[in-house]
Amino acid sequence: MKRIGILTSGGDCQALNAAMRGVVKGLSTSGDTLEIYGFYDGYKGLIYGNYRYLTSQDFSGILTKGGTILGTSRQPFKQMRVPDENGLDKVEAMKHTYHKLNLDCLVILGGNGTQKTANLLREEGLNVLHLPKTIDNDIWGTDITFGFQSALNIATNTIDCIHTTAASHNRVFIVEVMGHKVGWLPLHAGIAGGADIILIPEIPYDIEKVVEAVNRRTRQGKGFTILAVAEGAISVENAKLSKKEFKEMVNTSQFPSVSYEVADQIAQKTGRDVRVTVPGHMQRGGSPCAYDRVLCTQLGAAAAQAIEEKDYGYMIAMVNGQTTRVPLSEAAGRLKTVDPDCQLVQEAKKVGICFGD
Ligand code: F6P
Repeated sequence: MKRIGILTSGGDCQALNAAMRGVVKGLSTSGDTLEIYGFYDGYKGLIYGNYRYLTSQDFSGILTKGGTILGTSRQPFKQMRVPDENGLDKVEAMKHTYHKLNLDCLVILGGNGTQKTANLLREEGLNVLHLPKTIDNDIWGTDITFGFQSALNIATNTIDCIHTTAASHNRVFIVEVMGHKVGWLPLHAGIAGGADIILIPEIPYDIEKVVEAVNRRTRQGKGFTILAVAEGAISVENAKLSKKEFKEMVNTSQFPSVSYEVADQIAQKTGRDVRVTVPGHMQRGGSPCAYDRVLCTQLGAAAAQAIEEKDYGYMIAMVNGQTTRVPLSEAAGRLKTVDPDCQLVQEAKKVGICFGD
């Protein structure tokens, strides 16, 4: 008999259901009787004991379904040790729910913040496994996170659509791609969509270099220019600000996001028509792509195997095409950022893509 708890936490993405299905299907082949408890809305469900007994039937037919059948919410790691408005100790409450249900393991699907809390629960003595989810692909210790390829297809498709209208009107277009702290998604979408300029948080941009790249294209007789700009793209000047100064600057800015500021500067300095497109949460929506379905099936099966072996305290990662158990104690709190000198960036530059540096 195995008693498993499962929850999805943080921002959603396309392949959460596919991953949960992988875990449950993987466990179902072991011959052991299975009890599954699904916690609603991430850690909230574990804290407040909001869960449902589920059967393997509940995980059937959800491979292609976006979102999460359990719901999710953001429960910041920093707040976990802070009692709630009624004085409830959240960590103790989570432990209580876990022990009350007599769980063998808690399977936690989520990004960096979620992983930190998973590690905290491990430190508190719970058996946990973490599956790396995020469209940002910024989890250290795994080559890829699920959600990334699905979001990449949507962001790339947006740039593809923008191409035809940009060319017809001889305009400059900015597509703002998700990624506040890291630029994997805008980097890959920009290259895949044939963007001329890519701005990511890891490479602070000089607006003069960006403008020069736009003008260069005009001189070459290319009427339009497309920029893929990360939500968290940052200018060289702003990169020098302290965290507090930067926050203040953002709060008082006349622009809704950095893309609009870059658009305004390009328009003023070149006299060109500039338009901004923000696909936003569309990037996290719809069905998982084929790549993510395969990835999640593998990660789910590998998690089931770890549970069968009673080997807990890991993130189930994908490294060099192999599923691997990475200790949460090593991975938690580490971010996988884009190295500005990496091969991908260098090769993008080699084909003429400007990064504003
Ligand atoms: O972490 C995933 C992500 O989609 C980021 O790319 C984005 O910056 C953020 O979540 C948006 O968060 P929210 O859904 O809370 O607005």
